[in-house]
Amino acid sequence: MQTVLSGIRSTGNLHLGNYFGALTNFVKMQHENNSYFFVADYHSLTTHPNPKDLHNNVRKVLSEYLACGIDPDVATIYIQSDVPEVTELYLLLSMNAYVGELERTTTFKEKIRKQPENINAGLLTYAVLMAADILLHNAHKVPVGKDQEQHLEMTRKFARRFNKMYKTDFFNIPKAYNFGNELVKVPGLDGSGKMGKSEGNGIYLADDPKVIKKKIMRAVTDSGPTEQNSEKPEAIKNLFTLMKLVSKPDVVQFFDGKYNSCEIRYGDMKKQLAEDVINFTTPFREKINEIYNNDVYLRKVAEQGAEKARINARKTLSSVREIMGFKKF
Ligand code: ADP
Ligand code: TRP
Repeated sequence: MQTVLSGIRSTGNLHLGNYFGALTNFVKMQHENNSYFFVADYHSLTTHPNPKDLHNNVRKVLSEYLACGIDPDVATIYIQSDVPEVTELYLLLSMNAYVGELERTTTFKEKIRKQPENINAGLLTYAVLMAADILLHNAHKVPVGKDQEQHLEMTRKFARRFNKMYKTDFFNIPKAYNFGNELVKVPGLDGSGKMGKSEGNGIYLADDPKVIKKKIMRAVTDSGPTEQNSEKPEAIKNLFTLMKLVSKPDVVQFFDGKYNSCEIRYGDMKKQLAEDVINFTTPFREKINEIYNNDVYLRKVAEQGAEKARINARKTLSSVREIMGFKKF
């Protein structure tokens, strides 16, 4: 049986990008695989969250994952900091990770640009901690969005390097995974780029219908095509990409036809998109609220998950220590 693992930083609510990029794949895969899902709260420290918010952020993300269909009786769902073994593996792996390669990571370079006042060592070694998350359970498949592809490449590099250095085949070489083969990038509504928390352009699963409508009606468009069957500019393509995710195929076809014959009214398209996003998110929103307020359930899930994850984590650590040459007196 293959092991599937994915995680998300607890830095805010789940948006459609997270959902379609990583979560749906995991939900579909959880039954046929040995599955792990965790909330990356150590990773969230790289952006210095307020201690008052730390726990609530974890609670939010955990509730949202459960509401979206991760079944704690099927998958092992846990909080990263409840499994401290990961920090030891992170330390051990960091001895074989080179500063040059970490500095060249795209996400690190982006962070330097975005938070020049806080270029901490945790940001530099972000990919090492992520590799530790994955290798701790020796995962084969890691469902993530396109933006995480490079991190997965680095995990593979660290795993291969370890295997070669210690002449072992202990670590599996994990792959970024998506059912559709191509990793997904859900666009934002601001004309370019991906939907993301730090981009401030997200439609969140927990968003109120009124908020969703406002966000979509504000989406960037243009004055419309003037030539039949012309290629769509990026902002318009993005609107269609979102529509394909939440609307019925005949609805997408209808607006596509209108675009091609230069009769499209973006206002109508946005209204339809807003309606379809709201229909899509409403059942999740209701469930999220229910779970978020259920302390007893959340505690049970977190405890049960940590216990299961730690059994495996301890086994991995003990093998890794042995391979590296640690011995008891
Ligand atoms: P964000 O970019 O909003 O901060 P995270 O970095 O926490 O989100 O990403 C969590 C998961 O969601 C990752 O697997 C990531 O690849 C995926 N993801 C985030 N944004 C998108 C997007 N716009 N399209 C596809 N996948 C995404
Ligand atoms: N870096 C991921 C993100 O930003 C979160 C993450 C941390 C993760 N560790 C992981 C994802 C391990 C998959 C596997 O979304």
